[in-house]
Amino acid sequence: MHLVVIMGSPRGVKGNTGRLLDEVVNGATTAGAEVELIDLSKTTVQPCVGCDACHKVGRCPIKDDFEEIKSKLLACDGFILASPNYIFSVSAQMKAFFDRCCSLLHCLPLEGKYGAVVETSGGGDDSEVIRYIERFINSTGAQAAGGIGSNMAGFRSFPKEEALFTKARQLGAELCRCIKEKPHFPDQAGYRASFKTHMRRLIESCQHEWPYEYQYWQQHHNESLTAPAAGQTS
Ligand SMILES: Cc1cc2nc3c(=O)[nH]c(=O)nc-3n(C[C@H](O)[C@H](O)[C@H](O)COP(=O)(O)O)c2cc1C
Repeated sequence: MHLVVIMGSPRGVKGNTGRLLDEVVNGATTAGAEVELIDLSKTTVQPCVGCDACHKVGRCPIKDDFEEIKSKLLACDGFILASPNYIFSVSAQMKAFFDRCCSLLHCLPLEGKYGAVVETSGGGDDSEVIRYIERFINSTGAQAAGGIGSNMAGFRSFPKEEALFTKARQLGAELCRCIKEKPHFPDQAGYRASFKTHMRRLIESCQHEWPYEYQYWQQHHNESLTAPAAGQTS
């Protein structure tokens, strides 16, 4: 079972988020996973420039590490997204990565996969940031196996650390269980279905501008696309 971790802290795995991530990874490897770390502080993922090429041709023209990271995400069995809370949201590194994933949100290619969230903060708002990352996961088609977050007590330490680390290891194991047993999370179903409907309408209405995405939908979500009118091509 191959897990990909995307770490968004500019401190890499040496900071607070890295410390909490260690425990989640510990739980996952004990449950049989092998884990590949993608540390955004050591790779280059530039901000999206809004050129729409990913929608048209399925690839980003910016020459950096994004396409390789995308391939790894598409090929993995499950993934973990880890970020510190930076001003009530994720780090700029993680946000740049999310923005570059725009075509993944249009095409939902991670349907059938599971993701987990790791977050840390200086003083709180953990659940708000975890929810945001879980929403990103659901918007790629994947289901969220769970999320863990905490404010810090000191560098690489947390309040009620023993209980937190136990929960973190349990989250790693739960992600592996989800990959094996493929559970359906009813509490995520409503959002995922309405997001998919929204994307279907968007791709249908932009079928001529975004041929790659329209073709992707025809090949992968054909049941939910309206057939083009006679004589009409994509
Ligand atoms: C630019 C910046 C913005 C931050 N914004 C917040 C914030 O809005 N709320 C909060 O609780 N902590 C905030 N923090 C604190 C970090 O979330 C916290 O120290 C986190 O554990 C850092 O994780 P890391 O060591 O993995 O980078 C911020 C830190 C920085 C450097």
